[in-house]
Amino acid sequence: MPAGDSFYITTPIYYPSDVPHIGHGYTTVAVDTLSRWHRQAGDDTWMLTGTDEHGQKMLRAAAANNVTPQEWVDRLVGESWFPLLKTLDVANDDFIRTTQERHEKNVQVFFQKLYDAGYIYAGEYEALYCVGCEEFKPDSEIVDGTGPFEGLKVCAIHSKPLELLQEKNYFFKLSEFQDRLLELYKTQPDFVRPDSARNEVVSFVSQGLKDLSISRSTFDWGIPLPWDESHVIYVWVDALLNYATAVGYGEDQQNFDRRWPAHHVVGKDILRFHAVIWPAMLMAAGVDVPKGVFAHGWLLVGGEKMSKSKLTGIAPTEITDVFGSDAYRYYFLSAIAFGQDGSFSWEDLSARYQAELANGFGNLASRTVAMIEKYFDGVVPAAAGYNERDLEIQKTVADAAKGADAAIEQFRIDEAIDAIWTIVDQLNHYITENEPWGLAKQADGGDQAQRERLGTVLYTCAEGLRALAVLLSPVMPQSTAKLWDALGVAGSLGELTAQPIREAGAWGALKPGTTVSTLAPLFPRVEQTA
Ligand code: ME8
Ligand code: MG
Repeated sequence: MPAGDSFYITTPIYYPSDVPHIGHGYTTVAVDTLSRWHRQAGDDTWMLTGTDEHGQKMLRAAAANNVTPQEWVDRLVGESWFPLLKTLDVANDDFIRTTQERHEKNVQVFFQKLYDAGYIYAGEYEALYCVGCEEFKPDSEIVDGTGPFEGLKVCAIHSKPLELLQEKNYFFKLSEFQDRLLELYKTQPDFVRPDSARNEVVSFVSQGLKDLSISRSTFDWGIPLPWDESHVIYVWVDALLNYATAVGYGEDQQNFDRRWPAHHVVGKDILRFHAVIWPAMLMAAGVDVPKGVFAHGWLLVGGEKMSKSKLTGIAPTEITDVFGSDAYRYYFLSAIAFGQDGSFSWEDLSARYQAELANGFGNLASRTVAMIEKYFDGVVPAAAGYNERDLEIQKTVADAAKGADAAIEQFRIDEAIDAIWTIVDQLNHYITENEPWGLAKQADGGDQAQRERLGTVLYTCAEGLRALAVLLSPVMPQSTAKLWDALGVAGSLGELTAQPIREAGAWGALKPGTTVSTLAPLFPRVEQTA
C-alpha cells in the first residue's frame, strides 16, 4: 500500500467475565505487530482493542461474585485487562469499553436507523442458547451431553448444557442479505482470510441465512432498544458496533471517514459474526463493509482449544515473568502459521527461546558489538571493498525486507519473521566463515589487508544488525531498542521507531565512525521452571 494510506486495525473486544489468558494475548500481539509495522511505514495507522461488557455471561459472573455487573467489569478491566497491554508491550491507540457513553449512545443511533429502514421486526422465538458463546446455536453445534450432562443438549464448543429460551424478540432481516454477501465474497476474495476461513463462510452463507434475534427482554444488562426500552440489544450486535463507535460513528463523521473501513483480526471461533452478520448490518445501515476479516487459529493445549471455561487457561504473565514480553511476542507469532491452529508447550517455548533468540539473534548482536569494541575500540569501521559473499549478505537483507513487507501486507506475520530470520542465519554463518578473530590475529601481525578485511566483515555484520533492529522492532520492541542503543545510531539515524520500515533493506544506512556500547545479553539464560 502507498505510505500515508489509512490503516485501521482491530482486535476482538474481549469478555472481562474472567481474566485474560494467552489466547487473548496472541490476537492482541499479532494486531499490535501489524499496526506497529504499518505505523513505522508511515501509514495513517490506528489500533483498537477493548472489552465487551454486556450480556448474560457478565451478569452471571457478577452475581457469582456478589457485585453489580458494572462493579465487576470495572474491577476486571482495571485489574486485569488494562495491565495485559503493559505486560505484552502493546501500543494500542484506543481502548473501547461497551459500557462507555460514546458507544451506547451511538449503538442506539445505529439500531434506530435499521428500524426506520424496515430491517427490524418483532417476533416470537424459541431456541437453544449457549451463555458461553452468547449465541443461539445452529443445529451443527448442538451435541448430546456426556457424564454429568447425560441426556442434555450441550454446546459443541463449551461442552456445557444449552438453555431453552422462549421470548418475544426483535429480529434483523439477515436472510435478505444472502445474495449481497455472496457477491461481496466473490468480488473481494480477500474479504475473508485465510482461504480455509473464506471457504467455510461461503459454504455457510450458500446454505441460506436465518433472521437474527437482536434483542432480549428477560434481563436488563445491556443497551436498551431506543423504540422499546423493555428490550436490551443482543450482546453480539452491540459488541460488533464497537469498531464503528470507537472511531466516531454517529458523532464524529470526519474521524469516521478518516479511519473507516477497518481490518478485523479475530479467532476463528468468532468468524461468522464478523464475516456474515457484521457486513450485513453495515449494508443495511448504508455503511461501507470492513476491508477484511482475518481469522487466526486456536492455541491448543493438550490437543484442545485452550480456554478458561475448560480450565486450561494459561495467564500471559506466567510466560512473560520468565521469558519477557519480547519472547512471548516472538514465540507465538513465529512458531504458529497465522491462520492455523498451534499447540502450545513449555518445552517448545524454552527450546525456541534458547536456539532462536538467545543463540541466534541475541548472540549475533552480542558478538558483533563485542568484536567492534575489541578490534576497533568500539568505533564502527568502514567497509574497504565488498567481495561476492558480502554482496550476498546485502542481497539477503534487501530480499528479507521486501519479503517481510509483502508478507505483512497479507497478514502473514510468521512468514515475515521467517523472511527476516534469513538475515540472522546468514550473518551467523558469515561470521563462522570469515573468522574475524583469525583476521584480527593476522592484522596484529602487521597484515594491513587483513585489517581492512576485518573492517568490511564487521561493518557488514553491524549494518545487518541495523536492518534487523528496524525490521524486528514491531515484533520485539524492547530488545531491538536495546540493540539500537548499543549500535549508537540514535544520533545519526534518529529513534528506532522512526526508521522507515519499507526502506530498511537499503544497504549502507549505518555510518562508519559511530560508537557502539556494550550490549548485555538480549535474551539471558532462564532458570527452568516448567
Ligand atoms: O468472543 N486461541 O470474546 P472472548 C487463540 N467478546 N485465540 C484465542 C483463544 C485460543 N485458545 N481463546 C481466545 C468474544 N482467543 C467476544 C468478541 S468482538 C466484537 C466480540 C482469542 O473473550 C481470539 O481472538 O471469548 C478469540 O476470537 C477471542 O480471544 C475471543 O475472546
Ligand atoms: Mg470465547
